Amino acid sequence: MEELDEAMSDGAVLDLSGETAGEHATEAGSPFFVSKKAAAVLKHAILKQYVVPFASKVGKYAPDSRVVYLDGYAGPGRYDDGTPGSPALILDSAAAISDFRKLECYFVERNRKNYQSLSTLVAEARQQGLAAQALQGRAERHLDHVLGAADGSPLFAFLDPFGLGITFDALTQRIFGSRRAGGQPTEVLLNFNANAVRRIGGLLTSKKDNPHRPATLKALDAACGGDWWQEEFLDSANNPEAVDRITDGFAKRVGRAVGAGSWTIEVRNRADLQVAYHLVHFSRHKDGLWLFGEAASLAQVEWRRACVPPPSDGMLFNPADAFEQEEEARRLKWIKRIRVNLEGLLQKYGSFIVGDHQAEVMAGVLGEARERHVRAAIKDLFKEGKTSCNGVGDVRKLRVAITS
Ligand SMILES: C[S@@+](CC[C@H](N)C(=O)[O-])C[C@H]1O[C@@H](n2cnc3c(N)ncnc32)[C@H](O)[C@@H]1O
Repeated sequence: MEELDEAMSDGAVLDLSGETAGEHATEAGSPFFVSKKAAAVLKHAILKQYVVPFASKVGKYAPDSRVVYLDGYAGPGRYDDGTPGSPALILDSAAAISDFRKLECYFVERNRKNYQSLSTLVAEARQQGLAAQALQGRAERHLDHVLGAADGSPLFAFLDPFGLGITFDALTQRIFGSRRAGGQPTEVLLNFNANAVRRIGGLLTSKKDNPHRPATLKALDAACGGDWWQEEFLDSANNPEAVDRITDGFAKRVGRAVGAGSWTIEVRNRADLQVAYHLVHFSRHKDGLWLFGEAASLAQVEWRRACVPPPSDGMLFNPADAFEQEEEARRLKWIKRIRVNLEGLLQKYGSFIVGDHQAEVMAGVLGEARERHVRAAIKDLFKEGKTSCNGVGDVRKLRVAITS
């Protein structure tokens, strides 16, 4: 386990206190209109960007190149308007890598109507030769079945409930705990619901009589692994602070319990709206945390693009042009910031490997910038004679050293 190391940008936290690293990310820049579905755009983009590199990487040494994927709160698979939900997206990913990886998918859904539509999607996928199962009922009820099927193979679990999901104990002991002995790669991406924290936390100070109060507080205790969150809520100056503190506390506690690092990504429906939920990613492996940073950065581009309003009559400029200009300005700002970080690391260590200092290299731009921006910053320093590293090759493995 590496030393405690934590870094934040505006909306991203990378916590390296477990095996390696954790993270919050958001881009609060665009003043533009954002569609109501922008939160789902970010969530789905992260899934799409991450699961393929994850399966490609961990499946390399897995028996039969098999990787198990669990979507514990799957929804209908595809929405009424044809928009893919998480199952449709992942089945596309499974098809895309089917020549070299077997992504075996388990989708659990409690609601009967959603399950029916999910089953149709899964049946189509099976006809195409993909390995997929739709399971009806509560996620917890199917956990043992899926964990049994995943025994000996890498596992990625996506847990995306509307409110509170599986308990802290189910996450740490059943999902992670059951797989520790084999050392099989295990990663979880979960939706930690800020609305639930605000709503349930509000009960602590509410004067209204509420017969469900004790049970509701207990439900959040179970999700958080204890009642520690209550003090955090009461000690916070406002709801955004409470949500941040409780999400961070949750990620750290899970990370400590299972020996994992984590990323925490803020998800909003609009840059100026409060956080709807955080996506928290847990991995016991440094490579997973690095790859997730790449996926989060690419997904943020999709999210920002989804925030651009369509051009309309009477507009003095084309919003798409403004978007490209804003992206270029962001790129330059990130590279500048990473340069400063790299120069600080050069001063401190004289020589270092980029991938060993992910949080410090990306400090201030976590979840926003990615490898290509690190490479550009290294190349700038090389041109200026500040490092002997020319920025060519696998960025994570580059050794950046002061020019001798
Ligand atoms: C946020 S939606 C899922 C969206 C889906 N992951 C996507 O991105 O397209 C949550 C789903 O979980 C289902 N659900 C609620 N409680 C559940 C439980 N205990 N176990 C399994 N599914 C549950 C709901 O019916 C709902 O369809």
